[in-house]
Amino acid sequence: MPRLLLALLLVLPAFAAERYNTFLFGVAYYPEQWPESYWAPDARLMRDAGVNVVRMGEFAWYAMEPREDTFDFSLFDRAIAVLARHGIKTILGTPTAAPPKWLTARYPETLAVYSDGRVADDQARRHTCYNSPVYRRLSKRIVEEMAEHFKGNPNVIGWQIDNEFNCGLSECYSESCGNAFREWLKGRYGELHSLNERWGTAFWSQWYTSWGQVDLPFPAPASHNPAHELDYRRFISDSVASYQHDQVEILRRVRPNDFITHNGAFKNIDYYKMSRDLDLFAFDNYPCFQEKPQYTTGANLTRARGFRDRLMIMEQQTAAGGQTYLLRTPRPGEMSLWAFQSIAHGADGLLHFRWRTARKCIEEYWGGVLDHDNIPRALYQEFKKEGAEIRRIGNEILGSRVVSDIAVLNEFDDEWVLDHQYLTKEVNLAGEFEDLFQAASEARYNIDFIGRQADFNRYKIVFGPHLMLMDPELAQKIRKFVEQGGTFILSAHSAIKNHDNAMTGEVKPVLVRDLFGVEVIDFQCYQPPSRKKNAIRFEDGSTVPVNVFADVLKTTQAATVATWEHDSMKGSPALTENKYGKGIAAYYASFFNLEAARRLLRRYAAEHNLKPLLAGIPSGVEVTRRSKGQNHYYFVLNHEEQSVAIKPGPGYFDLLENAPAPANMTLRPFEYKVLRRAQ
Ligand code: GAL
Repeated sequence: MPRLLLALLLVLPAFAAERYNTFLFGVAYYPEQWPESYWAPDARLMRDAGVNVVRMGEFAWYAMEPREDTFDFSLFDRAIAVLARHGIKTILGTPTAAPPKWLTARYPETLAVYSDGRVADDQARRHTCYNSPVYRRLSKRIVEEMAEHFKGNPNVIGWQIDNEFNCGLSECYSESCGNAFREWLKGRYGELHSLNERWGTAFWSQWYTSWGQVDLPFPAPASHNPAHELDYRRFISDSVASYQHDQVEILRRVRPNDFITHNGAFKNIDYYKMSRDLDLFAFDNYPCFQEKPQYTTGANLTRARGFRDRLMIMEQQTAAGGQTYLLRTPRPGEMSLWAFQSIAHGADGLLHFRWRTARKCIEEYWGGVLDHDNIPRALYQEFKKEGAEIRRIGNEILGSRVVSDIAVLNEFDDEWVLDHQYLTKEVNLAGEFEDLFQAASEARYNIDFIGRQADFNRYKIVFGPHLMLMDPELAQKIRKFVEQGGTFILSAHSAIKNHDNAMTGEVKPVLVRDLFGVEVIDFQCYQPPSRKKNAIRFEDGSTVPVNVFADVLKTTQAATVATWEHDSMKGSPALTENKYGKGIAAYYASFFNLEAARRLLRRYAAEHNLKPLLAGIPSGVEVTRRSKGQNHYYFVLNHEEQSVAIKPGPGYFDLLENAPAPANMTLRPFEYKVLRRAQ
């Protein structure tokens, strides 16, 4: 890449981020799905509810390019103008998640292909291939036309690239992907010989003698080489990022002052990498996929916040949702509670999905602020109240950060290794993240999920779940972190392989054996249900149930803190601590679960003298803190269906009431507070 272009790419995102300077509140709006006579009354109701932005356009390619090379944005010009007259700005979605019919009919090679060779049907959405040269050309074309058309429009303020990459289909086995995969592998390995060596293809006579023999991991009678599978997922992720980059490059050039984002988190994408191209990451937040969503949603939001360190919500659940299925309906007050949970975890803007429920097609169950009959009822009133609250506090909290002392290292490579070699049906990485989140939340601490590029030294405690792949760079980062006073807790079955997803001849944990002061000499993999089969006993006699794995350790330097309770390893170390520099490298010889997370957090939070964010808050009430300049903002969220008393003590200012907060308060069901206090 030419130097100048590279320099521009690095500078422009930072510049454009400054354009994101208002707390956005709004809805997804689909003018193409409604008679034009609805637009002005819609805009009036939105304005009255405090809406300052809508997102539109992300599925409307059919209207923007009705025939190949014939462009027509007039419907959107008119819709944007009507909204603008009511003080509402627009985020435009590029429409490439749903190509028009003429495109797939004329260019069937643009369609994605399933692993069994079936071509994706083109009668829904997300059915195209990121590596199809034709699809890339036509995608660039529509985005270029769109950007040029709206170039001078002051009411467009930002862009969402595509919509939810990898939703529905996260793998493609097309000929284009096969060709692109070989090119990607050539870039990574250079010589075929090197690929053979690093993948270990002497196994099962897999030794490739020409690049043409290397292919995507199609279904086969036996399981594929883990190195092959991991590279395939890395390739998918890079394909998405490069497809996205085509569009980012156009928009940065034509509309340099607009912010650019992408929404949703799905499989086979390394969001830390792909988000580098964006000004902020947008999460799509649908708590109703859970019956009791508090911790799952909190963990999801925490993870999404870490991808780009700046978060907005592009789609926040409004009413019940469903397509072929139907989710539960939020109780009165829950919609806004969840919206404030998103803000509590760092969102600097939030749009509900969607303004009005569709009357036709597969989302006729996906509830909007207004229902099919278009009558503003209680939900509209709740939305309006939420809008007024966000108007009141939004710009004050804009840019404030969730600052945490505790982090969890989140490596997509490891997730993908586990997707293929899942060990047992009980292994659940997302569940472990949620357990760690829940333990921190119960103890009233903020927590971050971070990628390897993060500055570990911002934290006091870092958990490393399932860090199977270890490489010198990561090993060095962990070492430095511990040396300078941090506590790093590595879970079982970590540091077992190199970055090629291959075992090495080294004694495990590889590259960090001296740091942790242990050697792994054996292990047991308990079959489900594992939790009754062994336990870890701590010095005070309390125990934590095993989660699937039990490493058998030999300590070389480390001290033993807890031991195995049963089985042949009974009495041998199960939690060890090695003092290294000013810090501690702890090895936890099982996978984390909720009991382990609570126990470990209690121990290490005490050692680091961490103070809970707020005292006097009963369980069922969530607390987070965002900070900016001199101020801390405490979000206190009652997830319970009954009233609860809270006693944060004196000295807080209630931002929503715009009055000093009493030391003791009662929160109604699903009520929330935002309390400010100077640091
Ligand atoms: C999201 C998607 C929206 C809509 C919504 C409700 O995944 O971006 O377009 O489908 O879910 O199903």
